Amino acid sequence: MRLVLLGPPGAGKGTQAVRLAERYSVPHISTGDILRQAVREGSELGIKANSYIAEGKLVPDDLILDLIQHRLKSEDGRRGFVLDGFPRTISQAEGLNELLRSSNEKLDAVVSIEIDPKLLVRRLSSRRICPSCGRNYNLISSPPQRPGICDLCGTELIQREDDKEQTVMRRLKIYTKQTAPLKEFYRSKGLLKQIDGEGSIEDVCQRIIKALQ
Ligand code: AP5
Repeated sequence: MRLVLLGPPGAGKGTQAVRLAERYSVPHISTGDILRQAVREGSELGIKANSYIAEGKLVPDDLILDLIQHRLKSEDGRRGFVLDGFPRTISQAEGLNELLRSSNEKLDAVVSIEIDPKLLVRRLSSRRICPSCGRNYNLISSPPQRPGICDLCGTELIQREDDKEQTVMRRLKIYTKQTAPLKEFYRSKGLLKQIDGEGSIEDVCQRIIKALQ
């Protein structure tokens, strides 16, 4: 399975990607997670990406395409993937096409998770993440068992720097301008499946699986 998940910040891409990757036995590749880890490690990529992420702006395409190329050519990346947060611009989508073509591969589907922007701000302001293992929680819909503590590794949960309301609004604008046009790009290739992202996490997951059958 070679799948791309599209959708605005907070639509549930990461939440669904984990489930879909498990179901189809392929890696979940999140450019956001890779970049945040690079920032934590203080690597060259992390140093370059840090200010873009904190301000809710897109990291330059050449940095992203380099990291995706590296990841897709790795052992498990060749088995298939669920891409979460990539591509985000037409130029990234063209770069992905080129990469897949060079290894005689192609996408199976592009799922766009559609959701009312008002719901997004609420979801993101109540999101908490584990800085150690990356597990994602929501104070309203999926809280940890012990308040503020990761169920999996016991680390104290944090709020993402870019989940503050003003930064969320900027990310939404950037999504509308630079990423939403990808829906037309993939619709014209017959790959786009639009899914209602409201309702429980399980309901949304079932809708996606049904659309992929
Ligand atoms: P990234 O990490 O990709 O952020 P994003 O796309 O803005 O998406 P989010 O992670 O905020 O939301 P999501 O859709 O995954 O929602 P989630 O499942 O967590 O990117 C961050 C930054 O990195 C970018 O701004 C940019 O700077 C840079 N970057 C990354 N990729 C890049 C690229 N390709 N090019 C350039 N720059 C790039 O869900 C949100 C919350 O809602 C959670 O708390 C969750 O528990 C909850 N939730 C989910 N589903 C439901 C449901 N059905 N019901 C109730 N609650 C739910």
